[in-house]
Amino acid sequence: MTTILVTGGAGYIGSHTVIELVKAGYDPIIFDNFSNSKPAVLARINKICGRHVPFIAGDIRVREQLEAVFKENKIDGVIHFAGLKAVGESVKKPLEYYDNNVNGSRILLGVMRDFNCHNFIFSSSATVYGEPDSVPLTENSPVKRANCPYGQTKVDIEYMSEELQKAVPEFSVTLLRYFNPVGAHESGLIGEDPRGIPNNLMPYLTQVAVGKLPCLNIFGNDYPTKDGTCIRDYIHVVDLAKGHVAAIKHCLNKSGVHIYNLGTGIGYSVLDMVKAFSKAIGRELPYKFAPRRAGDVVQCYADPSRAKEELGWTAELTLDDMTRDSYNWQKNNPNGYDD
Ligand code: NAD
Ligand code: WQD
Repeated sequence: MTTILVTGGAGYIGSHTVIELVKAGYDPIIFDNFSNSKPAVLARINKICGRHVPFIAGDIRVREQLEAVFKENKIDGVIHFAGLKAVGESVKKPLEYYDNNVNGSRILLGVMRDFNCHNFIFSSSATVYGEPDSVPLTENSPVKRANCPYGQTKVDIEYMSEELQKAVPEFSVTLLRYFNPVGAHESGLIGEDPRGIPNNLMPYLTQVAVGKLPCLNIFGNDYPTKDGTCIRDYIHVVDLAKGHVAAIKHCLNKSGVHIYNLGTGIGYSVLDMVKAFSKAIGRELPYKFAPRRAGDVVQCYADPSRAKEELGWTAELTLDDMTRDSYNWQKNNPNGYDD
C-alpha cells in the first residue's frame, strides 16, 4: 500500500481528493485541525469510500504532532492542502496567514526531510501568476509578487519547497496551480461549506439559488472582456481531485520540481456562470452590477497541455456538471455540514 498523508484532508478540495485516492487504491491519512472544516465530513468520506479512512487531529505548525504521525506510519508522500485561503481576511490578518501557511509548510517540510519522506505535492494557485501579461497561462508564465498576503504565501511556499529540493535532491516537489475549483461530489454528501457570507462566486450563486441570499452582486461590468465581466477557468473539484491522483502516479519518487496548471483551459465570464446556473435551476437568478472588487484580475485561464502530456490528465466535467453538482450539494445541505 502507498500511504499518503493528506494535510487539510477534511477541507473542500482535500475531502474530494481523499475519495479519489481511495478509488485509485492509495491509502490516505487525513490530518486536519478543523480550522476551516467540520468533523462531520469524515463520516461522509467513509460512507462514499465504503471503508474507514484514518484521521489524525493536528496542526501542521506543531512539530511534535507531525513527528508522531511520521513515527507511527510509513508515509510515502504528502499532499499538502492545509492552509488558510480567504483573500480579504489575509489582508486583515497577514501575520496569521504567514504563520499558518508559510511557517506551517516550513515545519511540515522539515519533518518530511528528517523522516526521509521526499514526495511533496502542494496546493498552489493561479494567483501566483498575478495579473497575467497574456492568456492562456502556461507554467512558464512569470510568477509575480502577489497583491495580497494569501497569494504571497503561495509564492513563498513554492520558492521554499524549490529551494529545499535543490538542497536535498531526492525530493520530488510537485506544485499544482489550481484555477477556480467549483462543484461538489455527485453524491451530494460533500461539498464546499464556507463560513458566513461566501467570498467566492459559486458558493454565493448557490446560496442565491436556494434563497439564502437575495441577489448576486457582479463585481464590475466594464472590464475589457466580451460582456464586461471577468473571465475565469472554473474546474470541477472532482476533476481537480483526479489531477492529484495523476500527479501522485507520475511524480512519486521522481526527484525534481514538477509544476502543473490544473484548469480546463476554458474561460467563462461571470455572466456565463449566472446563465449556466439559471439553466441548471430552470429560472433566472437575480443579479445586479456592483463596483469592481479590489485586486480582481481581468482574465485568468490555463493552458493545461503540460498536465495532459505528462500526467495524462485532463478535466472532463462540463460547466453543466459544475452547476448541477454545486446546486445539488447546497440543496441537500442548506446549512452545510451542520445539517
Ligand atoms: P479548505 O479551507 O476547505 O481546506 C483547508 C483545510 O486545511 C481545512 O480543512 C482546514 O481546517 C485545514 N487547515 C488549515 N490550517 C491548518 C493547520 N495549520 N493545520 C492543520 N489543518 C489546517 O480549503 P480548500 O478550498 O480545500 O483549499 C485547499 C488548499 O488549496 C489550500 O491550501 C488553498 O489555499 C488551496 N487553493 C484553493 C483554491 C480554492 O479556490 N478553493 C484555489 C487555489 C488553491
Ligand atoms: C470569480 C469572479 C469576481 C463573487 C479566488 C482567489 C484565488 C483562488 C480562487 C485560492 C471574479 C466575481 C465573485 C461575487 C462576483 N483561491 N464575483 N460576485 O477571485 O478568481 O479567485 O478564489 O487560491 O486566489 O482570489 O474567485 O470566485 O472570488 O471570483 O462578481 O459575489 O466572480 O469578481 O470575477 P477569484 P471568485
